[in-house]
Amino acid sequence: MSAKVKLAVFASGSGSNYQAIDQSIRAGELDAEIVLLVCDQPNAKVISRARQNNLPVFLFNPNDYQDKAEFEEEIVSELKAYQVDWIILAGYMRLVGATLLSQYQGRMINIHPSLLPAFPGLDAIGQALEAGVKVSGVTIHYIDSGMDTGEIIAQKAVTVENEMTHDELQTAIQHVEHELYPRTIQQLISEGDSF
Ligand code: GRF
Repeated sequence: MSAKVKLAVFASGSGSNYQAIDQSIRAGELDAEIVLLVCDQPNAKVISRARQNNLPVFLFNPNDYQDKAEFEEEIVSELKAYQVDWIILAGYMRLVGATLLSQYQGRMINIHPSLLPAFPGLDAIGQALEAGVKVSGVTIHYIDSGMDTGEIIAQKAVTVENEMTHDELQTAIQHVEHELYPRTIQQLISEGDSF
């Protein structure tokens, strides 16, 4: 039996997508292992979720480094130490720089709470409500050097009901995310025969 595909999850916040991926692995639906959490926020809830699972955490403070290249070099050496195959961004609130891209482009994906290219960037849910769209959704895409501009891998629509609040739309979108992200990762992994 070949070794399992190794994932690193990058997150800055709650980590509900991290949890959904972890649960999908435990349920035998996603044939991979999460080997590392990379996080830039010491108080993020995702850290306690990871610690509960005994998952190694690389916690860094960007202010401790001269620039993005310097902290990304350290991240890359962690990723190499854990022999990471795929980087899964799940609420990582930073643009990925050239150092990480040069090593992992094509094996680094993100989830975004809108149907890209609509509503890139911060608070996509608020943007969708403000625009009055009747349909929004979820996009999973490859990472490139832009803000939510990489090639789209999967999308799923979510109906925006009349009078929906921000919290309600977020709940509906996250419900879809938690199903779509693990399933898409599994598809990518099973397509790739480079492992
Ligand atoms: C998700 O809605 C994702 O689309 C966006 O950030 C959010 C992260 O949520 N990129 P969580 O930390 O996984 O709960």
